[in-house]
Amino acid sequence: MSNSIENMAQIPEDETARQFYFMDKAKIYVEELAAKLGRKPTCCVNTFGCQMNARDSEKLVGILERVGYEIIEDENADFVIYNTCTVRDNANQKVYGRLGVLNGYKRKNPDMKIALCGCMMQEPTVIEKIKNSYGFVDLIFGTHNIFKFAELLVALFEQKGMVIDIWEDTDKIVEDLPVERKYSFKSGINIMFGCNNFCSYCIVPYVRGRERSRNPKDIITEIERLVADGVVEIMLLGQNVNSYGKNLEEPITFAELLREIEKIEGLERIRFMTSHPKDLSDELIQVMKESKKICRHLHLPLQSGSTKILNAMNRRYTKEQYLALAEKIRKKIPDIAITTDIIVGFPGETMEDVEETIDVIKKVKYDNAFTFIYSKRTGTPAASMEQVPEDIVRKGFDKVLKTVQDTAKEQVARYQGQIAEVLVEEVNGSDRSLVTGRMSNNTLVHFPGNENLIGKIVKVTLDECHGFYYLGHM
Ligand code: SAH
Ligand code: SF4
Ligand code: F3S
Repeated sequence: MSNSIENMAQIPEDETARQFYFMDKAKIYVEELAAKLGRKPTCCVNTFGCQMNARDSEKLVGILERVGYEIIEDENADFVIYNTCTVRDNANQKVYGRLGVLNGYKRKNPDMKIALCGCMMQEPTVIEKIKNSYGFVDLIFGTHNIFKFAELLVALFEQKGMVIDIWEDTDKIVEDLPVERKYSFKSGINIMFGCNNFCSYCIVPYVRGRERSRNPKDIITEIERLVADGVVEIMLLGQNVNSYGKNLEEPITFAELLREIEKIEGLERIRFMTSHPKDLSDELIQVMKESKKICRHLHLPLQSGSTKILNAMNRRYTKEQYLALAEKIRKKIPDIAITTDIIVGFPGETMEDVEETIDVIKKVKYDNAFTFIYSKRTGTPAASMEQVPEDIVRKGFDKVLKTVQDTAKEQVARYQGQIAEVLVEEVNGSDRSLVTGRMSNNTLVHFPGNENLIGKIVKVTLDECHGFYYLGHM
């Protein structure tokens, strides 16, 4: 062990301070590795799944940069981290497939380290499988202890063999650790963790634990810091933001939190994800209506339009209640875009149920809808229900998808010829003469421009609607 590590002070008790202590320690190991390699060691963080995971990866990158890694996109790196998702089985299969490729890289680079974290790691069967068949993995941790990544990194340097640290649950929220944003002008912000809803198909409550809200003060301070650092758009993140604040010592509603955030000067746009229909309050609709900053977009997952299926899904609303809610929102905020998630093939679903879903799609007129084929998740109540044969699922899925595409096309086209405020996000990947941005209602717009526009809100004429996006000019 190097002298500087022996000379380090005692491990602090406060969790944040403790992790900074381990960052200092990891830094010394990374410096030693850099000296051996004759260059800065590289690290690639590959994120699967939702915005929550994307934000978690920014936290990992914040620590990795601080301890001296160079972050690269290429997986042929000295350190590769997969932040995994397990919401549907295809997410898991992707990880197993790519692990094989990583093993190939590792054979050629014996110093290479491989880490797995995220939702998949909260499943005991996954850990068994990795221990048995993927012995070349060096570090495994879960969703509840991601805050101690610095400490685990040190363990990775100090211990031999696979380092595994998985917690079943936590009530801890550790604040003020480093974060490195992917975009300079926009950022996700966790306002709560976990989920208490237990929709019968969903694994998230098992892998993300019980619902915990952050203190409003911590959220506001974080946003103020981000704004001071150039952020103009924020996305408030939670599995069910509408139940934010209920379990705090001093309870506060999501709508009240939004009112406070609205006051932050310099912040231009506020988004949030996801809203559960059962908890969406009139107060929230009112705050959205009055707000100058909350974007004209609501993601309101339907899952199914059949009350029978919704009941079996444990969604706790009926088809009629959902339709009434959507209508109320449209009436109060006519220029809002509503998007949704739909599952086809849930156990017991018939073609009549699928028709009910199609009926809701036609009535609500979504601007966009993510349609998923039901995926059986071990341990969830729906896994032991009678599954629908694949060919019937396929038929229903194709029909739903077609309806979604048709209605979305019509919905998105209603802005044709109008002028919209667009936040420019990036230079277009396929045509470098164009930039790509988002309208307040989340619709994408491509128009001629250059990288100097990135992060700016500009006025764009919407010339041509192409299904889910527009071509326009400034
Ligand atoms: N908390 C969010 C959703 C998180 S998961 C909410 O309740 O809206 C994102 C989406 O994945 C869900 O809305 C659902 O449509 C889909 N999903 C979740 N579990 C699934 C499963 N087992 N099979 C197929 N899709 C699923
Ligand atoms: Fe899953 Fe339902 Fe929680 Fe969303 S609200 S994360 S679908 S259990
Ligand atoms: Fe996937 Fe976990 Fe998000 S399971 S969808 S990454 S909460």
